[in-house]
Amino acid sequence: MLTSAVQAAFVIAAVLFVLSLAGLSRQETARRGNILGMVGMVLALAATVVLAVDQSQRDALVTLVLIALVLIVGAAVGVRRAQRVEMTQMPELIAILHSFVGLAAVLVGINSYLTEAVAHPIAVAPLSGQIFYAQPDAVHLVEVFLGVLIGAVTFTGSIVAYLKLSARMKSSPLTLPGRNWLNLGALVACAGLLTWFLVEPGIWPLLAMTVIALALGWHLVAAIGGGDMPVVVSMLNSYSGWAAAATGFMLSNDLLIITGALVGSSGAILSFIMCRAMNRSFVSVILGGFGSDGGAPAPGGGADDGSHGVHTEIQAAEVAELLKEARTVVITPGYGMAVAKAQYPVADLVSRLRAQGVQVRFGVHPVAGRLPGHMNVLLAEAKVPYDIVLEMDEINDDLADTDVVLVIGANDTVNPAALDDPHSPIAGMPVLRVWDAGQVIVFKRSMATGYAGVQNPLFFRENTAMLFGDAKTQVEAIVQAL
Ligand code: TAP
Repeated sequence: MLTSAVQAAFVIAAVLFVLSLAGLSRQETARRGNILGMVGMVLALAATVVLAVDQSQRDALVTLVLIALVLIVGAAVGVRRAQRVEMTQMPELIAILHSFVGLAAVLVGINSYLTEAVAHPIAVAPLSGQIFYAQPDAVHLVEVFLGVLIGAVTFTGSIVAYLKLSARMKSSPLTLPGRNWLNLGALVACAGLLTWFLVEPGIWPLLAMTVIALALGWHLVAAIGGGDMPVVVSMLNSYSGWAAAATGFMLSNDLLIITGALVGSSGAILSFIMCRAMNRSFVSVILGGFGSDGGAPAPGGGADDGSHGVHTEIQAAEVAELLKEARTVVITPGYGMAVAKAQYPVADLVSRLRAQGVQVRFGVHPVAGRLPGHMNVLLAEAKVPYDIVLEMDEINDDLADTDVVLVIGANDTVNPAALDDPHSPIAGMPVLRVWDAGQVIVFKRSMATGYAGVQNPLFFRENTAMLFGDAKTQVEAIVQAL
């Protein structure tokens, strides 16, 4: 009876997770998607606690108290971190959370081996005293092995991603000689250890594989350059899902299998979409920079060394005059808008211009900012209407018919070198062709480079003017002047 109720709760939670993902795929329904996901997770947690207490081999009360303790500590740490984290630090927070999933999969796997898969005595011959052992189930052994393998790769890979994203480790790719052979060698060694583990299910092949997988995870992500980090985070998200699914098989927990598969596949799809947006090969990112330069900046491509020409400066009052004359305006926001928290004055500027009959739209690059959907979230927060927020592909062809483009804190995502310079580290990345517009105004504080560390020839074009200063202060000044 209790098991059926728990199973029913698991099915409902799984349906809620699917509905949640469907909701999260559109801005208008994202809030509802979030709520459905949260309800599903509360239900899943409650059902899991009930099941754990019911199946507890020790005192049910002790189990309940232990679970309650870890839940409270985990929730307290989680709430505190979530309240403190800046939106721009979100990718590193996500990376470290993935490492927890990986670590959990390793610990659960080894625990499952020790408590279930390990050969345990089932009978003793009365006369000879010979001990007979239960034969461990081969399928379960494979589940344990794969769960620990994926978990260990996810654990160290996510830690490296966290260290790189939080600038605690150099973001340039680690290029060891024969790095692809090292990765291949590690996988072959793991396959050999799996065979050993199945033939002779001892702890040593499992532990040896864990050490190799930890090193493999570290090396795979260390070999990826800073520019590809967004894809890596979403790929680790996918790995963490597969690790959870493998754990679900180990524990015969259907909900964990479904949830893990949902996270694994949605993370893989997101990685694929982002690779396409940045013109990176999915396989090369998965294999740790195989066949790519990892996005390292080209020599001399960084700071403004004067070789790119001269730039023109403009003041906020002059921009206000330009905007008064304009019929069509496109705003392309980037990471700097998030840093300056300029989305509120930007929304104010938009509503004033629209009230004066100017057509204003946003052009959002798929990897603008520091996390997928970063700009969309900020604009939604500032109550910018969804229907004027367009994707790069939807706006690019209209830019030639646009009077003024305001590039607010964006840099790499509007860099023409991606299309013109085959030697640029961002060569081939699709960008917003803002230079096609009549006039481009770039809001930034200096001539410094963007995330990829390459200078932007857009800043030196004839129809570009630089509005230096903090984006929020400058947009407020324009609103004032209007
Ligand atoms: P970036 O290329 O990162 O450039 C941001 C610009 O904002 C900088 O040039 C900076 O110039 C300016 N800025 C910073 N603070 C500012 C402030 N307070 N006021 C005004 N300007 C400010 O931005 P992007 O165009 O959004 O490109 C995103 C980059 O991040 C891409 O290379 C992408 O691959 C990478 N990335 C993306 C993600 C995802 S998933 N979106 C995740 C990680 C990395 P100053 O310093 O001169 O002000």
